[in-house]
Amino acid sequence: MEINVIAGSIEAVEDELIVVNLFEGVERPGGATAAVDQALGGAIGDAVAGGDFKGKKGEAAVFYARGALPARRVLVVGLGPQDKFGLNAVRDAAAAAAKKARALGVGSFSSVVHGAGAGGLTPQAAAQAVVEGTILGLYRYQELKNEPPDRPDPERLTLVQLDAATLPAVEAGARAGGIVADAVCLARDLANRPANYATPEELAEVALDIAGEFETMCCQVLDEEDADELGMGAFLGVAQGSDEPAVFIVLEHNAGRDDLETVVLVGKGITFDSGGISLKPVESMDRMRSDMAGGAAVLATMLAVAQLDLPLHVVGLVPATENLPSGRAFKPGDVLTALNGKTIEIISTDAEGRLVLADALAYSARFEPEAVVDLATLTGACVTALGRGVAAGVFSNDDGLLARLQAASQTSGERIWPLPLYDDYMDKIESLTADMTNSGGREGGVGSSAIFLKQFVGDYPWAHLDIAGMSFEERPDSPKRPAYLQKGGTGFGVRLLVQLLCDWVAAG
Ligand code: BES
Ligand code: MN
Ligand code: ZN
Repeated sequence: MEINVIAGSIEAVEDELIVVNLFEGVERPGGATAAVDQALGGAIGDAVAGGDFKGKKGEAAVFYARGALPARRVLVVGLGPQDKFGLNAVRDAAAAAAKKARALGVGSFSSVVHGAGAGGLTPQAAAQAVVEGTILGLYRYQELKNEPPDRPDPERLTLVQLDAATLPAVEAGARAGGIVADAVCLARDLANRPANYATPEELAEVALDIAGEFETMCCQVLDEEDADELGMGAFLGVAQGSDEPAVFIVLEHNAGRDDLETVVLVGKGITFDSGGISLKPVESMDRMRSDMAGGAAVLATMLAVAQLDLPLHVVGLVPATENLPSGRAFKPGDVLTALNGKTIEIISTDAEGRLVLADALAYSARFEPEAVVDLATLTGACVTALGRGVAAGVFSNDDGLLARLQAASQTSGERIWPLPLYDDYMDKIESLTADMTNSGGREGGVGSSAIFLKQFVGDYPWAHLDIAGMSFEERPDSPKRPAYLQKGGTGFGVRLLVQLLCDWVAAG
């Protein structure tokens, strides 16, 4: 989508559609909406007075200008209640407007920067949120459909900012918003892409393509032989049952720049999780094509990092493999030896995510990082604890890193909630045969998964995000859900990680 930014009054803009807004419960429109309303002879005010438009979030009303304005149509979107207003409300309003524009068959439209005026947000953050909401709201997974959709996407959005002095801020925000949203769309595509397309080697191709596009990027794809030489026995144990070759992806931005701080991002890359010999039930097993959503978020974040050219050394690690049953598959009772030498007794082959992460976390130590953040669709127990689509669980051994993540969560609107790393959980993964087991059972299942990971963490600040409840939206689209979230892969984590890294740079 083409995004432009201009200075001026929205009521003077000639376009197929112009977008203004209204807070819930406001009886008399102000600002740009008032100017447009006046030109329309009070039509917006009448709709509000008549109770036809309430300014609720997701609400969108169309008015035809019939020559009263240079634009053909006016769309008023609701911002919801003023006391709940923030960047997510802006994303939501922008997404609702973009969807309405598409439904109307509009090819080009112009919008005010929601929240930059009366909303009290900075013009840069508001512009970024408008662009993110627009692109994410229009997202559809079309790759494998033969027929094009009924309505094509609008091709152009113009942001119209009254105050010319803030134009550079709006431009910077719009640019960042485009980069972040395109990255989220990549992560969504990868999570939606069926497992027979999005194989481990296909993820490696995506990583190599990103590396090929940017001078700052380099990519190394370790194959099973390389992993074996290194001693990644936990990762290879999972890979054993599948005929798809496993790969361990290492994507680096600003490699070798000793002057820069290092942040490692690790993403679980199980391209299909059948459970292995501990086979999952048939019901919604197809959904396990998105068990690489953490890996997808890491690759997509790396793309955004390169595009923003952040002055940081950022490493993306994605251990990628399928988890399948076969005559060669690893079995309950087997013992695997991880890269750091620790031995693991397999209780359930379905607790495979922590195994591939174990080797990736141990591998991270070689970069002597300032921080390591892993993202994984790790446990159903996390979904039980926090709910589906509510928040990701976060565990950390470092309060500073946790605080940075929480700040980035506030800005990006991607919710995380802290869970405890009590040593008590160690009792749950005690093994008769090996150093630990790979499953702590049902009770406290999310805590025991995190304490397991901690056994492979080196001497660095670390945070683990369990995104099992956040990565894939199964519920049908509903007006209660933000308009920028559709059914299927959500791309959760990309906005959060990009924000974390941008804030890291800003903090110096
Ligand atoms: N990929 C699953 C977790 C998952 C469940 C993600 C639902 C998204 C939605 C993971 O590999 C898994 O199977 N976890 C097991 C662990 C158990 C065997 C200790 C689980 O949560 O049941
Ligand atoms: Mn599993
Ligand atoms: Zn899994």
